[in-house]
Amino acid sequence: MDRRSRLIARARQGYRLAYGVEPTRFVAAPGRVNLIGEHVDYNEGYVLPCAIDREAIVAFGPPAQEAKQPVFEAVALDLGDMASARDSFDLHAPVRPGENNWQNHVRGVVQALGRYGHRVKPMRIAIAGDVPIGAGLSSSAAFGVAVALAVSEFSGLGLVPEMLAKVAQLAENDFVGCACGIMDQMVAAVSTEGHALLLDCRTLQHMAIPIHPSLAITVIDTGLRRSLTESAFNQRRAECEAAAAALGVTALRDLDSTRLLLAEPDLDPLLFRRARHVVTEMERVEPVGVAMALGDTAQLATLMREAHASLSEDFEVSLPPIDRLAAILAEALGEAGGVRLTGAGFGGCLVAVCAKEATGAIDTAVGRYNRDADWPARVEVFRAVGGAGPVAAG
Ligand code: GLA
Repeated sequence: MDRRSRLIARARQGYRLAYGVEPTRFVAAPGRVNLIGEHVDYNEGYVLPCAIDREAIVAFGPPAQEAKQPVFEAVALDLGDMASARDSFDLHAPVRPGENNWQNHVRGVVQALGRYGHRVKPMRIAIAGDVPIGAGLSSSAAFGVAVALAVSEFSGLGLVPEMLAKVAQLAENDFVGCACGIMDQMVAAVSTEGHALLLDCRTLQHMAIPIHPSLAITVIDTGLRRSLTESAFNQRRAECEAAAAALGVTALRDLDSTRLLLAEPDLDPLLFRRARHVVTEMERVEPVGVAMALGDTAQLATLMREAHASLSEDFEVSLPPIDRLAAILAEALGEAGGVRLTGAGFGGCLVAVCAKEATGAIDTAVGRYNRDADWPARVEVFRAVGGAGPVAAG
């Protein structure tokens, strides 16, 4: 059985166990790895993530026949014991936060759909996923977009992918309490197989960029997790907004490095560094896209090294062991590819975009790092996959 069939089987089995009947349909949404454009989405600039072959699957079907109230029922298969993994709430009452974080990802989607004016019918869902949680690979966006799609299909809402992304983002912003941008949800919703997604986070216009067939996308999970991620993330976002306000622009998207340099003397030094990361990072997005389409690994090495340094020094979202691993990997790859921190930071993963034959050098370097690391790192090569959609139950 392949990875996806196993996941579908888990979702099906969980649904049967929870509700005593078969689900009628399945949908899926992938996790993602961001290749370049970090902490840029909420500054309304361009980003270049790609969807990966790890996903959230939702099995769904009609409500219990005997139900007297219009109830939405959910069971999450990887997120708690038999009791905490279940949820149900009344669709006629205002949606309130649940006791568990995962419940709020479901409730938040239902509430967000309501706020966009959609009527959600009573239904039952079971969710299974294999996107690593808390690693910076967007398990939450996969979860939110998959739930939004299941509801859209069951309630006949016919939502376009951009709307699924917006609904899942609103759920995170207003219900879960994370001020995330739109990148993760968009890439989960609209990606094309074998391609990365060049996305304008202001207009949501997007374009699929081919990943050169000679390249491999490798994720190195440092195993480090920092629990304060959400508050630190929200703080970075607030700093960027403060910098934009001080500079008199709507968002940092509206600046370039020349304008920023001219403004340096008048700007608080910390806000200047935050803004410098965002502005220089935005200027790397297109060149990385071109290098990736052409398979220009030397260019990827240079640009991704700069990107990592900027995240670490100016944006301060790396950790010393991650910097050490990034330096070891950059040296091992040389001009065969680039490596940098990916996702929000404060732990999580590095991503390497390199020649396929250089992935062995990554394994060797990580083996060396693990010999005296407190947290061993793990390497995984991902395939770029398409965005959310229905899946055949097989
Ligand atoms: C998290 C957020 C995204 C984005 C990245 C950083 O993944 O959910 O919206 O801001 O961090 O690039």
